[in-house]
Amino acid sequence: MEYPVTRMRRLRQSEAMRSLVRETRLEPSALIQPLFICPGENVRREIGSMPGVFNLSIDEALKEAESAKKLGLGGLLLFGLPAEKDEQASGAWAEDGIVQQSLRELKKAAKGLLLIADVCLCEYTSHGHCGVVKKTRDSYEIENDKSVSLISKTAVSLAAAGADIVAPSDMMDGRVAAIRDELDEEGYENTPIMSYAAKFASAFYGPFREAADSAPQFGDRRSYQMDGANLREAMREIEMDISEGADMVLMKPAMPYLDVVRAARERFDVPIGAYQVSGEYSMMQAAFAKGWLEPERAMLESLVSIRRAGAGFIVTYFAQQAARVL
Ligand code: PBG
Repeated sequence: MEYPVTRMRRLRQSEAMRSLVRETRLEPSALIQPLFICPGENVRREIGSMPGVFNLSIDEALKEAESAKKLGLGGLLLFGLPAEKDEQASGAWAEDGIVQQSLRELKKAAKGLLLIADVCLCEYTSHGHCGVVKKTRDSYEIENDKSVSLISKTAVSLAAAGADIVAPSDMMDGRVAAIRDELDEEGYENTPIMSYAAKFASAFYGPFREAADSAPQFGDRRSYQMDGANLREAMREIEMDISEGADMVLMKPAMPYLDVVRAARERFDVPIGAYQVSGEYSMMQAAFAKGWLEPERAMLESLVSIRRAGAGFIVTYFAQQAARVL
């Protein structure tokens, strides 16, 4: 009888042994929690398709921030649901916009916790698109350059309100350069830009649109978000964002695009994050509710896989849940 010389199982025989040789680790400081802030007081409204995720009024968001800080999370990513929407997305760049107000409050209440402001127009436009829409007789067009000027105005107003990082998620061309320019001009040269450099037009954003009330009223986002079939184009997008001044880049969604994360990690030396989006969260929650997946193990496995693919940090709706078990 011949025995195997190399026995891979030797290093798998106990948790202590496995833990010693583990290649990929998760820590709370690499997790970013998205928050959806809405007007009012004492509002904590669960999102139907996202169990455990809420629309929160500012007072409730403060409690959430405190617990995020206690758990040692890497930061919060803020989205806003304005009381009113219009064609110019004025709620996105208003000095007293919902996210601007919450930034001022959070800044006082959760010192040391990174506050990242998502920069986009879709939650604030009446039509739900991420840019300015020009309607023609039987069609419409998203006006890139007009959108970019509102987007950079939004970024400055969020920085002024106290955002530690601004994160443009609109996918208009030239927005990173425009934002960098305006930030520098207004004295926010130290505010980093985390660009959603490779953001795919994904069906997995479905539940988010319920959470942020931002579904386009007509058409879809395929003229600005990327075609899910394209990896090389994603590399060009990242390269451009970095050359325009992005300090770090995000890939999104995460699990269906782990190859993009890996390719980006091998090619670029800026910090790279991935966004485990609403649909990724919701499908797992649905399976947990049916008893089809073990919640804790499936959650951690999904996060480890994103990390292993090369993401230094992860935006995830599981942030607090995961931090609790780590
Ligand atoms: C805004 C934005 C979206 C998401 C993040 N920022 C929605 C979209 O592009 O439709 C999706 C996040 C998620 O699904 O969790 N443009």
